[in-house]
Amino acid sequence: AFNLKNRNLLSLVHHTEREINYLIDLARDLKRAKYAGTEKQLLKGKNIALIFEKTSTRTRCAFEVAAHDQGANVTYIGASGSQIGHKESMKDTARVLGRMYDGIEYRGYKQSIVQELADYAGVPVWNGLTDEFHPTQMLADVLTMLEYSNGKPLNEIKYAYVGDARNNMGNSLLLIGAKLGMDVRISGPKSLLPEPELVAMCEKFAKESGARITVTDDVKKAVKDVDFIHTDVWVSMGEPIESWGERIDALTPYQVNKELIAATGNPRVKFMHCLPAFHNSETKVGKEVAEQYPQFKNGIEVTEDVFESPINIAFEQAENRMHTIKAVIVSSLV
Ligand code: CP
Ligand code: NVA
Repeated sequence: AFNLKNRNLLSLVHHTEREINYLIDLARDLKRAKYAGTEKQLLKGKNIALIFEKTSTRTRCAFEVAAHDQGANVTYIGASGSQIGHKESMKDTARVLGRMYDGIEYRGYKQSIVQELADYAGVPVWNGLTDEFHPTQMLADVLTMLEYSNGKPLNEIKYAYVGDARNNMGNSLLLIGAKLGMDVRISGPKSLLPEPELVAMCEKFAKESGARITVTDDVKKAVKDVDFIHTDVWVSMGEPIESWGERIDALTPYQVNKELIAATGNPRVKFMHCLPAFHNSETKVGKEVAEQYPQFKNGIEVTEDVFESPINIAFEQAENRMHTIKAVIVSSLV
């Protein structure tokens, strides 16, 4: 038997296939219990810190609701209003918060910062997104794919991630598929594919799990026969908006539109996105981009017609953030 008590969730690189599957099964159980009204509170009296150096809707709310459902208390620490980063190092912050809290969520920039927090806190640390990885999102994505796979097990599921494949989502979707024995295709322009070191590491994991990994700039080849197409924004948090100009031409062939959906050849293909998504020009950033590049007024990484169609399961995916994050907290604190 094994358990995940006191474990961090930093990248999923150090979790085994069995441990990841355990978290997904636990999330399913917790989801069922919540729907049935039979959920038991296992975290009464626990205190959880939520550090967000970047903004968030889903991750923050998922942690807060999950903790509340389980009887735990949370403290939200935003980008300003604490000493973090201005007056106090992460090493010292870790040693302070570790004395008061039972677990700490951290969203920020470099992976090395969440690692340092974990090294010195003495309590479990959960990565709520860094520049490199988004591990809690992966658990939700896998749970959602299982729910919409028409009963296919993980080793029969095929998915593609297209777009900026050098960001936290591209990296993480490559890693999770490799760990879980899935058929994973990562596609973007050559300049925006995952770092060769990460690909090499994932190829090793794939050998153990039986996963099939394809990393390619050939988007049509990548999406052929897939069950799921994932994408993400073309410019991530923390990246200068000026990078948009350089990327736009390179990324245009990777836009998820009707044509790319048709190129899968699968009439039952589903669309996924971690969100937030730029699928029209309603938002402030969407408007700014559309003013400069009118061809993107009906969507940037995904077009409005795809996003507003029944193949979009991004909102189911968003709900699953809460159930899976609950599984992470419960498994590491109980
Ligand atoms: N998908 C995701 O992490 O969303 P937020 O940035 O809103 O937390
Ligand atoms: N790649 C995106 C994901 C947001 C959840 C970002 O880092 O901004």
